[in-house]
Amino acid sequence: MEHIWIFGFVLVLSLAIRAHGATKIDIYKEASFDENYVVTWGQEHVLKLNQGKEIQLSMDHSSGSGFESKNHYGSGFFQMKIKLPEKDSAGIVTAFYLTSNGNTQDEVDFEFLGNREGKPITIQTNVFTKGQGNREQRFVLWFDPTEDFHAYGILWNPYHIVFYVDNIPIRVFKNNTKGTNYPSKPMQVVSSLWNGEEWATEGGKAKINWTNAPFKAHFQGFSESGCHGDSPNVCGSSKYWWNTERYVGLSVSEQKAYENARSKYMNYDYCSDFTRFSVRPYECRWNQ
Ligand SMILES: *[C@@H]1O[C@H](CO)[C@@H](O)[C@H](O)[C@H]1NC(C)=O
Ligand SMILES: *[C@@H]1O[C@H](CO)[C@@H](O)[C@H](O)[C@H]1NC(C)=O
Repeated sequence: MEHIWIFGFVLVLSLAIRAHGATKIDIYKEASFDENYVVTWGQEHVLKLNQGKEIQLSMDHSSGSGFESKNHYGSGFFQMKIKLPEKDSAGIVTAFYLTSNGNTQDEVDFEFLGNREGKPITIQTNVFTKGQGNREQRFVLWFDPTEDFHAYGILWNPYHIVFYVDNIPIRVFKNNTKGTNYPSKPMQVVSSLWNGEEWATEGGKAKINWTNAPFKAHFQGFSESGCHGDSPNVCGSSKYWWNTERYVGLSVSEQKAYENARSKYMNYDYCSDFTRFSVRPYECRWNQ
């Protein structure tokens, strides 16, 4: 009896470690920014900290700032630890996304929509295929994302895209259309801090309060776990850990955590916005 109990305990423990190990970032083991990333705009608003293992983006009246990966990827697990601008950040958007660029781009977005001090920051996700987006979902988080670093991850493989917040899946976008409505162009990783006051907060009514500038966001986690290259055949290979059996679907515990997060923290889903879409977007059938 005791043996069974101990066996059960060890099993649960090792499962917990495995689940955690997949997405944990140890910044001291991480690559520095310059190895895999370059600053793309607002150079004088970018500060390297911790021997380049941490980046601060800032924004004031003159400019925001941003960076992108040197490489394009065809699949992978893309995760960054981010600490969002403190206090009153209405109108400020912090973004972390994958994009193929251009105006028929494929894109997978995390956007953090700042808010008036004391009101929670909204996290918006979106998926673009061939330049068509309009697939927003929004969450309010179960922690204050301005207080500390949290891990935001995007798994992108031949089976699905999964958005993670601290290892908890909050959104799944499946490749159920034989690839026709699924991001498939090589994408870069991009982050930026920019002025979104036209739309981001209270539908654009809450403008930026510049007395609080400069606004600052911090980023960590510049190692790569993505497949370089342009051919989905190569990047779909199960020699990459993110394409293996374990990542074809959510695990049982992930599924539970996913349902819990969506029932408690999701406050907008384009799939149930019947004012905006008289015909329910096609992919909503299987992306519940
Ligand atoms: C999506 O699925 C199709 C059909 O199963 C596959 O050919 C394609 O490579 C997948 N897309 C990506 C980006 O892996
Ligand atoms: C802007 O921020 C300052 C300093 O925190 C505050 O005194 C002022 O009331 C704010 N203005 C608005 C419009 O919220």
